[in-house]
Amino acid sequence: MLTEILATSPRAAQTVLSFDRARELASCHGSPLLVVSKSKLIDTYWKMREFLPGVEMYYAAKANPDLHILTTLREQGSFVDVCSFGEMEAAQFAGFSPEQMLHTHPCKTEFNLRSCYDAGIRWFVYDNALEAQKIANLTPDVNLLLRMAVSVSSSVVNLSAKFGAAVDDALSVLLAAKSLGLKVRGISFHVGSQCLNPTDYTAALKEIRWVWDAAVKHGFDLEVLDIGGGFPAPYRHDAPTIEEFCGVVAAGINEHFGDLPIRLIAEPGRGMCAESTTLITKVIGKSRRWGMPWYFLDDGLYGSFSGKLFDHTDFPLIYEGMGTRELSSCVVAGPTCDSSDVVSTDQLLPDLEIGELILVPCMGAYTSASASPFNGLPVARSVAID
Ligand SMILES: Cc1ncc(COP(=O)(O)O)c(C=O)c1O
Repeated sequence: MLTEILATSPRAAQTVLSFDRARELASCHGSPLLVVSKSKLIDTYWKMREFLPGVEMYYAAKANPDLHILTTLREQGSFVDVCSFGEMEAAQFAGFSPEQMLHTHPCKTEFNLRSCYDAGIRWFVYDNALEAQKIANLTPDVNLLLRMAVSVSSSVVNLSAKFGAAVDDALSVLLAAKSLGLKVRGISFHVGSQCLNPTDYTAALKEIRWVWDAAVKHGFDLEVLDIGGGFPAPYRHDAPTIEEFCGVVAAGINEHFGDLPIRLIAEPGRGMCAESTTLITKVIGKSRRWGMPWYFLDDGLYGSFSGKLFDHTDFPLIYEGMGTRELSSCVVAGPTCDSSDVVSTDQLLPDLEIGELILVPCMGAYTSASASPFNGLPVARSVAID
């Protein structure tokens, strides 16, 4: 399926700005710098709306709680998925009201649950009887979605390994909440992040429909189906287009839930924001070590490239004058004193000059969100364009 989809319309990683514009921005704001294209973000939001008809978007702030991204999406009418007090505050700062938020953490600290409830959030997720008990003790009048685990066959990050009730346990977890007087209003799942085959959703929807029908038979008044995130982005490998990927997901929703008058929601993180952002990073040093050229950048594994470690993402490095310079094997390292801070060992690059800029596309998701100021080096700032 993936090869068929890619054969018709592959989507390649692209920068959101030229090298000339990058030089202007870097001279004004410094580097490393994350450049957010609002128009790219808006385009992605509306493409997802168009090709997932009837599905409301709850942008997963964990992918990138950057103010430019949150504000831009709110202005388009997006809702937001938060998983902590900190994300809720970031969303509030961007203008989202608590009614526009869904809290999706299946295992909350008491502080997380209580503080988000006190701020006004009323939709939460749970996946087991003890979490239901916690919710019943602290915030009994909330609306709940049961998070279910689903088979993950083509995603890079399995999000059913840690959370989600198994199909066989779902009914007992639903009944546990009911016996505590809680209102379960729907079901959510996540096929895993960077899902590469949209038929994974179809398979999950089939399983969920079985549980949904069993719940209805037991008197549950379910009204919300949350299909989670998982929508892919291109990195060093192409990804399917939004049109084609979401088209298959929409067909799956229609096939398995098309007969029900329910509210459909999705929680895209990566698929919504990854392509909106390009990193500008600068070559700050070079050397030759055991016969191999090494280039040192002002951003690395502890910074915006943290997604390489935590998210298994392999970002393409774009240099100026592609196609015109002679290339060779090299090592590209980050700016910290740690030897493991290596960004790439297998990308061919020209003889880079100190001070030269490198652009890294698709740096919107799981990059700055997991960056740290290790070695006292500040994380990249962000600016918005268009
Ligand atoms: C509950 C939940 N929803 C949504 C997302 C966003 O997923 P993605 O970035 O794959 O769209 C995640 C990612 O971890 C998640 O845990």
